[in-house]
Amino acid sequence: EADERESMYLVSEFASEYFQKVLLNTERGKAIGLSYFKERGFTEETIKKFNLGYSPDEWSAFTTEAIKKGYQLEYLEKTGLSIVKEEKQFDRFRGRVMFPIQSMSGRVLGFGGRILGNDKKAAKYLNSPESEIYHKSKVLYGIYHAKQAIAKEDNCYLVEGYTDVIQFNQTGIENVVSSSGTALSPEQIRLINRLTKNITVLFDSDAAGIRASLRGIDLILEQGMNVKVCTFPEGEDPDSYAKKHSEEELKLYLIDNSKDFINYKASLLMEEAKNDPVKKASLIRDMVTSISKIPDSIQQEIYVQETSRIMDISEEVIFTTLAQLWARDQ
Ligand code: CTP
Ligand code: MN
Ligand code: MN
Ligand code: MN
Ligand code: MN
Repeated sequence: EADERESMYLVSEFASEYFQKVLLNTERGKAIGLSYFKERGFTEETIKKFNLGYSPDEWSAFTTEAIKKGYQLEYLEKTGLSIVKEEKQFDRFRGRVMFPIQSMSGRVLGFGGRILGNDKKAAKYLNSPESEIYHKSKVLYGIYHAKQAIAKEDNCYLVEGYTDVIQFNQTGIENVVSSSGTALSPEQIRLINRLTKNITVLFDSDAAGIRASLRGIDLILEQGMNVKVCTFPEGEDPDSYAKKHSEEELKLYLIDNSKDFINYKASLLMEEAKNDPVKKASLIRDMVTSISKIPDSIQQEIYVQETSRIMDISEEVIFTTLAQLWARDQ
């Protein structure tokens, strides 16, 4: 089994090098892939740091080359890089810019491949399938480049996407990882928990991003970690914001706009709730439910005080509600 996994790593690492060579050294790679990345503002240094690549727009150029180099079809298929159908072999990734996904120690586990442009009909990102080496819910994109900075800064920025991680790195912020989509998992949070107790969630400022941030808050609190949320202006995500601003501006923005989870929920829902007692009650209940996830009772108390102050409600009634939630969950 260990041998099988090693063979899968090796074929994935070959693929990563192959896609980068196509990007940097072929006419089509340069004309299509490289110019796409340049348009997004990525420098050649950034492209090399993240081993970005381009998969040729042909049926089996990659698979053919891999087999020629002695890689076995078995592992090409098990990693999902090649698809075998009726004794014919195809490349999974064709005509996409490629984002290799690395483990904490830098091994290549799988890929995300993006279509060029914004064709609404095709799926924007195609990802490697689950395999013996790639479990989507257990990896964090960017962790290999972020781990030292996360420990040093004692904070981790959590973003949705590949390009958010890359653009932040290029702008000068390295303690950033992506959940690769909005479905943040407990295993992903556990990976961060090994490096720091502090997470700042930077999800996209759209409905999906807000929903995911609210779900993420409780999962993070459950692990005894501290969570802040920083939102971006309407229509922006961390990538688009960072692309337009300098390192200093971005760092200031993050400091000025990061809120603890109680303040975040208040800012999100207070406008609606303040003149509506029913909505206000449900907002308070929601805050208390999040507080109930915190394992440490001193921290709980601090957030109870904050909720009491912000929502103008007594601490006693919050503690009573906490006790009711606790009793219900037993
Ligand atoms: N994602 C995915 N499959 C999709 C759409 C999204 O796997 N069809 C994942 C990708 O990891 C993506 C992340 O979810 O990076 C966030 O999605 P989204 O915000 O839609 O994409 P961006 O990262 O902003 O991509 P881009 O800027 O390239 O449009
Ligand atoms: Mn496994
Ligand atoms: Mn999004
Ligand atoms: Mn996005
Ligand atoms: Mn984006």
